[in-house]
Amino acid sequence: MPPINEIPAGDPCEPSSRSQKVKECLNPFKLSTQDLNSVSERLLKEMEKGLKKKTHDSATVKMLPTYVRHTPDGTETGDFLALDLGGTNFRVLLVKVNADGKSTVKLESEICAIPQEIMEGTGEELFNHIADCLAQFLDSRNIKDKKLPLGFTFSFPCKQIDLDKSVLIRWTKGFQCSGVVGKDVVQLLIEAIQRRGDFDIGSVAVVNDTVGTMMSCGYKDPECQIGLIIGTGTNACYMEELQNVELVEGTEGLMCINMEWGAFGDDGVLDEYRTKFDKEVDAQSVNQGKQIFEKMISGMYMGEIVRLILIDLAKENVLFNGMVPAALQMKNSFETRHISEIEADTNSLAEAHKILTSLGLEPSDDDCELVRSVCSAVSTRSADLCAAALTAVSNRIRQNRDVDCLKITVGVDGTVYRKHPKFGSHLQCRIKSLAPQCDVTFMLSEDGSGKGAALVAAVVQNKNMCS
Ligand code: BGC
Repeated sequence: MPPINEIPAGDPCEPSSRSQKVKECLNPFKLSTQDLNSVSERLLKEMEKGLKKKTHDSATVKMLPTYVRHTPDGTETGDFLALDLGGTNFRVLLVKVNADGKSTVKLESEICAIPQEIMEGTGEELFNHIADCLAQFLDSRNIKDKKLPLGFTFSFPCKQIDLDKSVLIRWTKGFQCSGVVGKDVVQLLIEAIQRRGDFDIGSVAVVNDTVGTMMSCGYKDPECQIGLIIGTGTNACYMEELQNVELVEGTEGLMCINMEWGAFGDDGVLDEYRTKFDKEVDAQSVNQGKQIFEKMISGMYMGEIVRLILIDLAKENVLFNGMVPAALQMKNSFETRHISEIEADTNSLAEAHKILTSLGLEPSDDDCELVRSVCSAVSTRSADLCAAALTAVSNRIRQNRDVDCLKITVGVDGTVYRKHPKFGSHLQCRIKSLAPQCDVTFMLSEDGSGKGAALVAAVVQNKNMCS
């Protein structure tokens, strides 16, 4: 068992002062309808700034044009490779887009880990690693000579110049590879493949995971005009009127905008809602002051927020008899998946007990109960903030279409949304009250990052064949 560090003994906590201390700690996570409406209004303003030429450079929410002009129309067809880079794993897929206009089929896929040293190494090492994984995948399927078109899901903020040209603005989610910011990631991929020299690929389309998710759902439901990710990171995309996208010429039709809402708050507009724990998480991160909204919401940070609260409550003598176990003092030792597991166990405290014991504690039932309340406070706030942000997007689309009531579908993916037992229902419930004029349906994407990227690659291939 790891050593237990005793905190200098404080006064034993009376029940009333205990509940007072818990309240003080968790109340800042409770956001009222008024707070959430205000968050939503602030995001609407940031969206406007990001879309306008004059204010785009200083805008925190970048509202990046994606050059995706419509959701799939069903005429796309063929076999495509898809690469998916955006979290700790990297995937290679082979996807068949069927000619019936109704389905995509994932034929095969493989997961390659991205070791920490590659996440923090050079760009060349990262892209060599991707090309190696791709080569292995093609080799094992005997398709190295096929020169297939490729959809590249690259889930970081990029200034897209066209569907096949995308310049990294900055890394997020713990990635820090040198020599990539400011470069076209498609070019870096092609160069890495050329360095190997043993295979080639066809045309490449690069998409954000939100876009892949929206596309894969849009294939089934034409009302799907928003893509949402709540996983390691968080972000959304939606179909905007091209005439409002000042960075791109043209006034007719729509264009998908990758909002990069994770950076909302980087200029301080959310400061009044940030707790001391949010500030601590940010201070310990590799990208201090950046991705402030993401750090309050997404899977990479939620477990960490809970860990810091637990330490605080233990130090206040409210939890664990005032003991802070060494394991809990280690960064990231309380994982976001633990939040889902503890909250899923509604009828007993067994899961909380098991997780806390594995961290070197001997928790009482009261401890387990309180830890569950902490998890719930953090995950509920995450869903609340997400609902506020989606309210802004839905209202924007409603205003664009000039309708009183908007019916819209959100294609959604990400581990937090998928794994947390209450996140989805809470999000849905909140958005109903925050956006009463919007009838929002959520559609869980099936492998959007793979299939959606393949669909965009199909669009590029069509375009190349026509020109
Ligand atoms: C990235 C986005 C991405 C989101 C979800 C964020 O950190 O900046 O591009 O869509 O994570 O993966």
